[in-house]
Amino acid sequence: MDILGKIQLHREEERRLAWEGTFGEYLEILKERPYVAQSAHSRVYNMIKDAGIEEVNGTKKYNFFNNQIFGLEDSIERLVEEYFHPAAKRLDVRKRILLLMGPVSGGKSTIVTMLKRGLEDYSKTEAGAVYAIKGCPMHEDPLHLIPHHLRDDFYREFGIRIEGNLSPLNTMRLEKEYGNCIEDVIVERIFFSEDKRTGIGTFSPSDPKSQDIADLTGSIDFSTIAEFGSESDPRAYRFDGELNKANRGMMEFQEMLKCDEKFLWHLLSLTQEGNFKAGRFALISADELIVAHTNESEYRSFIANKKNEALHSRIIVMGVPYNLRVSEEERIYEKMIKESDMSHVHIAPHALRVAAIFSVLTRLMDSKKQGMDLIKKMRLYDGEIVEGYNHIDLEDLQKEFADEGMSGIDPRYVINRISSAIIRKEITSINALDVLRSMKDGLDHHASITKEDKERFINFISLARKEYDEIAKKEVQKAFVYSYEESAKTLMDNYLDNVEAYCNKNKLRDPLTGEEMSPDEKLMRSIEEQIGISENAKKAFREEILIRISAYARKGKKFDYNSHERLREAIQKKLFADLKDVVKITTSSKTPDEAQLKKVNEVIARLVDEHGYNTTSANELLKYVGSLLNR
Ligand SMILES: Nc1ncnc2c1ncn2[C@@H]1O[C@H](COP(=O)(O)OP(=O)(O)O)[C@@H](O)[C@H]1O
Ligand SMILES: [Mg+2]
Repeated sequence: MDILGKIQLHREEERRLAWEGTFGEYLEILKERPYVAQSAHSRVYNMIKDAGIEEVNGTKKYNFFNNQIFGLEDSIERLVEEYFHPAAKRLDVRKRILLLMGPVSGGKSTIVTMLKRGLEDYSKTEAGAVYAIKGCPMHEDPLHLIPHHLRDDFYREFGIRIEGNLSPLNTMRLEKEYGNCIEDVIVERIFFSEDKRTGIGTFSPSDPKSQDIADLTGSIDFSTIAEFGSESDPRAYRFDGELNKANRGMMEFQEMLKCDEKFLWHLLSLTQEGNFKAGRFALISADELIVAHTNESEYRSFIANKKNEALHSRIIVMGVPYNLRVSEEERIYEKMIKESDMSHVHIAPHALRVAAIFSVLTRLMDSKKQGMDLIKKMRLYDGEIVEGYNHIDLEDLQKEFADEGMSGIDPRYVINRISSAIIRKEITSINALDVLRSMKDGLDHHASITKEDKERFINFISLARKEYDEIAKKEVQKAFVYSYEESAKTLMDNYLDNVEAYCNKNKLRDPLTGEEMSPDEKLMRSIEEQIGISENAKKAFREEILIRISAYARKGKKFDYNSHERLREAIQKKLFADLKDVVKITTSSKTPDEAQLKKVNEVIARLVDEHGYNTTSANELLKYVGSLLNR
């Protein structure tokens, strides 16, 4: 469908979802779907739950966060199970501010943004529907219209508990516009939208001197005071602060602890009583999730200050450390690159992996466990098998340091370095070595790295480089092996000729000189040894093969490379062993002969077709591995 078609469809969808009716009619809706009256926290929790929960090895995986957040399963599980879930059940945590605390670029804002975008979408679904008093700038919950003395009766009839008082503005409107007839008040379905400032707000601290509390709680509208006669007429007040607008949904409080204290005090009553003060009015009830974020050092200095005790006790802190798994880190980079303007650039295989190895190493802490080192720890964390250790060791490691992952290299640094390497190289292809080099160069300009850290990090770059060397060598050998299907056949034919001569006690004829020669014992043994055939067993093995060949011949079948499994294994292994030398010669010869050139081109073609390289990065790989093997 073209874009205009989609726009039209979208408009029709909006029209379909819209609803407006009297409060009386709203109560009919509640009879059938009481959940639409759920609290903001409950809605957030259900949104996450409805996206699906899987349990993998005892850790819950929330599909809601799947495509954007990687490697933070434990933090997310805590967040959902220790905050959203109990908050949804109206437990006290609901009234507290959720504070995500973690290192820079560790995914805090991403989590909050996902919640916001998620709520916008969820409010368009049946399960996430939200209704509000029409014309109210705070989208007030229609149930606030029910007077306190009738709320127990209401609970008995509807099974819904009502919290909060009707706001000053709607109290006045009820009287003036509806003549106190609650059942006539117009209710509408609302759809959360940050752009339209419905149910989603963001507060970010600016200069403390110029920042106005009105940004949070709204302000007097001087243009209308004359009309309404007094500052305390709620109609002369603009309820358009972020706390107002976020009612029923959520407010993000960016970098909360950078904020001036007087702003934080406002939150105190909100978190204690679920209401806040605006202008000269009675307290205003608010039903919203408040998510703030901060880094560790600001948090430490915040709690060190005695004056903050009261507020501190109203905050639930959730750690959001860096991801510590290499494979997940790679996915983070892939995602960030896809979202950037570098997506056209060819990134050679393993380039991101090597960067991820480096970053994760900078985040890990040295374990006291016997024989453990950072590389092993890194592998265990990533779910690899490391000899001598099991899942119990892994759990021990994970418990050893409470604040592991709170420091180190952040994903944004890596992406910035990759992009600067691309710019410098001026081509549209970048490999693992380019990335490592750029990471290293960048350390000089990294603002928050101490001299000691820098030394440590440079050491990690060498470790990452060593990891890459192994990966690169294996990759090239693999690419060579398949081009050796031919060689495998030749080697096997050669072996069989010798075996035949050996068993029949014949001589072989040299194909070039025509001279007679004895069977090549050295060649035969070098193959047989690959599968552990001893000197004593060699005769039986060779005879068995001859018998197999003649059995094949009798049936008119051709004995080939795949006809004898153990022989095939022996040949493959022998090829691998020889390969090292071949790769060495082929890749390092400055003036390759025709055969070598052909081979190199074959290998490059294979790297491109089957392993994700382009010709530039494949050539670079071969050159590098050649130099490694000749060291
Ligand atoms: N664990 C993670 N999973 C997915 N993306 C991540 C993760 N950690 C960081 N990022 C990415 O790094 C960038 C910075 O993250 P951000 O959410 O702004 O961090 P913070 O708010 O903690 O400083 C974003 O592009 C984000 O997507
Ligand atoms: Mg952020």
